[in-house]
Amino acid sequence: MAPGRTYDEQRFSPLAQINAGNVQRLGLAWYADINTERGMEASPLAIDGVLYNVQPWNLVTAYDGKTGKVLWTYDPEVPLRFGRLACCDIVSRGLAAWKGKIYVATLGGRLIALDAATGKPVWSVLTVDNSKSYTITGAPRVFDGKVLIGNGGAEMGVRGYVTAYDAETGRQIWRWHTVPGNPADGFENAAMELAAKTWTGEWWTAGGGGTVWDSVSYDPALNLVYVGVGNGSPWARDWRSAGGGDNLFLASIVALDADTGDYRWHYQTTPGEEWDYTATQQMILADLQIGGRTRKVLMQAPKNGFFYVLDRETGELISAEMFAPINWASGIDKATGRPIENPAVRYGTTPVLVSPGAGGAHNWNPMAYSPLTHLVYLPVTETYMGYAKAESFDPAKGGLGTSFTGFEAERDAITRYADAHSRGWLSAWDPVRQREAWRVPSPQKGSGGVLATAGNLVFEGTIGQTFAAYRADTGEKLWEMPVQQVPIAAPITYTVDGEQYIAVNAGWGGGLAHVERSAYTQLFLSKPRLLVFKLGGTAKLPPMPAASMQVPELSPPPAPNGTAEQVSRGEQLYAANCALCHGVAARGGVKDLRHMAPETHEAFLDIVLRGARARNGMASFADVLTPAEAEAIHHYLIARANADWDSR
Ligand code: HEC
Repeated sequence: MAPGRTYDEQRFSPLAQINAGNVQRLGLAWYADINTERGMEASPLAIDGVLYNVQPWNLVTAYDGKTGKVLWTYDPEVPLRFGRLACCDIVSRGLAAWKGKIYVATLGGRLIALDAATGKPVWSVLTVDNSKSYTITGAPRVFDGKVLIGNGGAEMGVRGYVTAYDAETGRQIWRWHTVPGNPADGFENAAMELAAKTWTGEWWTAGGGGTVWDSVSYDPALNLVYVGVGNGSPWARDWRSAGGGDNLFLASIVALDADTGDYRWHYQTTPGEEWDYTATQQMILADLQIGGRTRKVLMQAPKNGFFYVLDRETGELISAEMFAPINWASGIDKATGRPIENPAVRYGTTPVLVSPGAGGAHNWNPMAYSPLTHLVYLPVTETYMGYAKAESFDPAKGGLGTSFTGFEAERDAITRYADAHSRGWLSAWDPVRQREAWRVPSPQKGSGGVLATAGNLVFEGTIGQTFAAYRADTGEKLWEMPVQQVPIAAPITYTVDGEQYIAVNAGWGGGLAHVERSAYTQLFLSKPRLLVFKLGGTAKLPPMPAASMQVPELSPPPAPNGTAEQVSRGEQLYAANCALCHGVAARGGVKDLRHMAPETHEAFLDIVLRGARARNGMASFADVLTPAEAEAIHHYLIARANADWDSR
């Protein structure tokens, strides 16, 4: 009934009808086409035989869980301009349910309660100030009559917070900010006053960041809610807190009183972070036997590459070890709980190679914990990224304060190194011994979220365009099916009329597709689908259209046609407005703009200034770019396409 199934977000199901002995007979029971070009990150909810699903632009659909028949759909009609604010795709990571209502949070910042039976809205509240660049991609969480929602936008100069609303009425109960505002306005609470001591300069003018864009867990016995706090805004610490400092509560796990939202404790994973090391990744609550006693723990494997086990009553660090090769720190000092940082990774205007990169060693893709094997299953990536401090930063204009232009030579070396070393694998992690029990390597990074079941199984979508099942105790692959897609979301399982089903959203996209240099041009993908499996299922996917199975023939770019001034102006404007989604120096990203088709060159101004592709996540930039500026970007892209044509 909840993202992660239970409040502890273990993503473990006690169902065992499908198990290690019979999973070979798993087949497709039914599927539903999903009308989008973008990523699918949500796990559906399964309640009394009905599947509730959410897709980009926050369209909600209720399906009969047995047959796939659509019972209702709801479209919140999110204004397409919000697509431009979503750093990492116009995705939605899920829904919440409470007493006959389904809750959806929209990209535009609304929280909406729907009647679960009809899909009709019951109430709707705006949870953000739309004059600022907030978006919501995370799933709401509901407990004890309260629905909780955070937001995103730390790439765009916002100040993060989480709000609790009355699940019946939508009335606001409490709100907790994650970073301090302007001291002159007075602090909201003592925690903000404490946090302000760890910032310098006029940090509030640039927002500060610290958005709660994904993970929230809840312990009813302790009456604590745990929120995972994101990265700083802007990225480069020098540009947001010039005198240094830890910058609380960035990159922290914070425990709040569930009734009042009052601060209880925090643990900061990356003090003074400046590499986009969010601590928003999933937080699993479990009781583990450590040192001869039962500890109530919280486990997180955030982007920074350390697997943390905390005492969830007090926030005390129990243990932390690296789960991927990284270079930003060599370990965690157990006495202070602070990382032993590599001084070389604090960047100035000279670029440095840091691992992990902003994509993280583990990102939002959910992990799972099995209380039977006592292992945590998580998708891991080895990533690298070059960071340099931008020459200038103006809070009024925004930007990351971190530069990706003007150092071609270093960047090429970094890119080559990263391409040669980037990998991904499914890891079974023993959280008590803090070491890997087994791993399944994948050909490249990008595999999906995970589900563990009492059938001694772990399910995961793979970058090999398959959906696979492994033995939970050994990692042996037991079953795999090509699915014409990369299911990056985590699967779920449920029963209807005594029969067990496995469901997964299969749709490639999200941050990796948006920001990383694209190694994924060889992915032949269908439109996204919701796939539902059962033992003996006999449904078949239609064949892939032959045309979509070929590497597209690239047309040579138009001849360079801009003046040197236009190209250089275009380069700056591209870096400021486009690189976030289309890649540094126009390499890769969501669509590689060096490889535009002749028709796209023709339609360039319609796409960039008139929103011709807004539905697909490419909103108009007419309010920030003049036609001459858009032309300059076009000239720059044509120059880049020509420069790289021989090495395509
Ligand atoms: C928030 C993310 C985002 C930003 C920022 C962004 N784009 Fe896009 N853009 C997209 C997405 C998503 C698509 C894919 C749309 C589709 O599939 O039709 C796209 C597609 C395009 C296309 C069509 C490419 C093709 O080959 O079909 C062009 C041209 C384009 N963008 C130009 C720009 C320019 C110029 C900028 C900066 C002014 C920019 N975009 C900024 C997300 C973004």
